[in-house]
Amino acid sequence: MAGNQADGDITSDARQPPKIDTSVAHPARVYDYWLGGKNNFAADREAAEAVMAARPTITRDIRANRAFLNRSVAYLAAEEGIRQFLDIGTGIPTSPNVHEVVQSIAPDARIVYVDNDPIVLTHARNLLSSTPEGATEYLEADVRRPGEILAKAAGTLDFSQPIAVVLVGILHLISDAEDPYGISARLMDSVPSGSFLVITHPASDIQAEVVAEGARRYNQQVATAQTRRNFAEVTAFFQDLDLVEPGVVQIHRWHPEPGISVDDYEVSGWAAVGRKR
Ligand SMILES: C[S@@+](CC[C@H](N)C(=O)[O-])C[C@H]1O[C@@H](n2cnc3c(N)ncnc32)[C@H](O)[C@@H]1O
Repeated sequence: MAGNQADGDITSDARQPPKIDTSVAHPARVYDYWLGGKNNFAADREAAEAVMAARPTITRDIRANRAFLNRSVAYLAAEEGIRQFLDIGTGIPTSPNVHEVVQSIAPDARIVYVDNDPIVLTHARNLLSSTPEGATEYLEADVRRPGEILAKAAGTLDFSQPIAVVLVGILHLISDAEDPYGISARLMDSVPSGSFLVITHPASDIQAEVVAEGARRYNQQVATAQTRRNFAEVTAFFQDLDLVEPGVVQIHRWHPEPGISVDDYEVSGWAAVGRKR
């Protein structure tokens, strides 16, 4: 890891035994199971399988979400010259992680990862393998307290220069009462013009009945409930931003890899990238 400024945070956190409750399913571990990972427990697998029974296409949608994450940050590094990324709700590390994608394009890129699930901290070393020219940092923090994240991230990121705020697959875990729009606006208010917001969000209006049943099962078993949102509700996160073409689209239709057919199937999730004016 380059940028030793926050070594203290990781070291002091790592001395505490992580508070991991394996008896209840958690979003990071359920997601890991759907991605084919091994960092999950019986309760996570049971919840994941219950959703899969109602919605067998969930694993393809989850892979599409992860592939979008890689495409969008590669686009920002290669096409928009972005060198700083704040990836909130990063999840259990899955190769390639954001820093591996963007530092292969721009070795000097700086990435701060954030998650509130202590299991992610136990894998943080996988998120900290920065190039010597760049920097990576991991913060255990909650997106519902954006001020705390911004203060800590300032140890690694320069808030006078553009930053990509990455909220991929996390906002559905924030209920309306917890004000997801206010959280995203607070984060974007703190970054300069030329910064970007990257979002994916599970949809309530694509394959509506099947995904509603999947969400019902998820919410019965997983510690953090999900709130699926429709096209207009996801578009509202970009109210004061300029959307990068093609705007808010199904996750697999955003800048697909050349030669990949995106018309053979539907993904029940919205994706977009917006630029701050
Ligand atoms: C569905 S996973 C998405 C992982 C990754 N962003 C991706 O798209 O591949 C959601 C992640 O958000 C994290 N998360 C949920 N609520 C959070 C909160 N309030 N603050 C920070 N992270 C949170 C979970 O622990 C989990 O790792």
